[in-house]
Amino acid sequence: MTTCFEGTTFCIHTFGCQMNKHDSERVAGMLEGLGALPVATIEEADIVVFMTCCVREAADTRLYGQVASMKNIPVREGSPLDKRYIAVGGCIGQRDGEKLVQQLPHLDVVFGTHNLASLPALLSGAIERSGHAVEVLDGGADFSSALPTTREHAWAAWLPITVGCNNFCSYCIVPYVRGREKSRPLEDIAEEARRYVEAGVKEITLLGQNVNSYGRDLYGEPRFAEVLDALDATGVERLRFATSHPKDLTDEVIERFGTLRSLMPALHLPVQSGSDRILSAMNRRYTREHYLGLIKKLRAVVPDIALSTDIIVGFPGETEEDFMETYRLVEEVGYSQVFTFIYSKREGTPAAKLQDDTPREVIQERFDRLVDLVQRKAYEANQGERGATVPVLIEGTSKRDGSILAGKSPKNQTVHGPLPAGLTAEELVGTIVPMHIDEARTWYLSGTVVDG
Ligand code: SAH
Ligand code: SF4
Ligand code: F3S
Repeated sequence: MTTCFEGTTFCIHTFGCQMNKHDSERVAGMLEGLGALPVATIEEADIVVFMTCCVREAADTRLYGQVASMKNIPVREGSPLDKRYIAVGGCIGQRDGEKLVQQLPHLDVVFGTHNLASLPALLSGAIERSGHAVEVLDGGADFSSALPTTREHAWAAWLPITVGCNNFCSYCIVPYVRGREKSRPLEDIAEEARRYVEAGVKEITLLGQNVNSYGRDLYGEPRFAEVLDALDATGVERLRFATSHPKDLTDEVIERFGTLRSLMPALHLPVQSGSDRILSAMNRRYTREHYLGLIKKLRAVVPDIALSTDIIVGFPGETEEDFMETYRLVEEVGYSQVFTFIYSKREGTPAAKLQDDTPREVIQERFDRLVDLVQRKAYEANQGERGATVPVLIEGTSKRDGSILAGKSPKNQTVHGPLPAGLTAEELVGTIVPMHIDEARTWYLSGTVVDG
């Protein structure tokens, strides 16, 4: 279409969940396809794209500060453009639209979560005609999966199977900024997966806010188990998915952990709270008992499955007793990893109207207590790996030391180990090698590559 991108450079700053990370890969794919070159920093970039998140307040305020501070960064030497162009997309773009350019006048483009494909046209409009270009659509005009992608890693791919969310948990803004749940036809998904496997992808992660309800809109019933079967049949080595809602995790899907060769023994199953009273106020539509029942069934199929979860501390009206129910649940389940969040009020959600008198310090103290427990349990969960030999998908080297390999075990644990003599990290990246686990720490395992 347009040539105003030839010779330009771009960088994308991504916040939030894997949906955004995946959307950023689509944005990179489009811009590269038009002749723009990816660079790592804002200073080197002629076009800067922010893919934003508003799930909690902290991410929100950070964006405004970051865009405001960009005013003082000089234009890149050799840039074919008259200035640095800034585009804001993702969930804040969707929520705030026009308001963003009013508050940040040096912003050029705003787009939302339903119109990724419009970004090149919006940018070229801003570049050629000058002035702002804002476009935010209400509904999902297209499934962005039709767009080109530049994947972050050659050996791993994220594959969206649904977009949007119908659950309306009372604290959560996602359904308002991502729209209603839409599933992609099964054949499309399988076709994209086959292409990835042919291109050498080792690990596919299926994405959706609630993958378990996949297919309800298309087929009248959830068909997530069939998606797993279809993916396994592609021959992919490692299959993962996120996120699962406990109210929709079926026995069929649980069984697949025992039968599908590629499905890795790890599951992220957000519980949010261990108190039935709070779960009900959160509109989660399951009980503590139901959740623990799922864990039992999962462990009956894969006794050492690695479980992770999300927990919100400080939901309006949460008492010490409610919190202790959560604490005891974490103790009982023994998660490998827990993502803990302090409740953040999001305007427009039902929970934003709830009164809360709990002092900030009390919430913080509970949060700290929970984090201590989470660390202790994660350490304990990892001890079982000592002495085992596990296949590790090598992702690169440790950030601190280029001679230490870093990769992921089937349970998604990070594994570090020295680079074997006579091999380079480049040769090993993207391959699966057996490693003997010598030591298990809280957040990673240390091992040695052994002859397979
Ligand atoms: N669809 C996924 C995750 C969505 S957002 C799911 O349902 O599990 C990721 C996590 O952010 C949520 O699981 C929740 O723990 C947290 N979160 C969402 N809204 C929040 C809020 N208002 N305050 C604090 N944490 C929140
Ligand atoms: Fe938000 Fe709940 Fe939907 Fe997850 S399931 S995105 S927490 S509304
Ligand atoms: Fe954030 Fe949007 Fe994901 S609000 S968590 S980036 S869906």
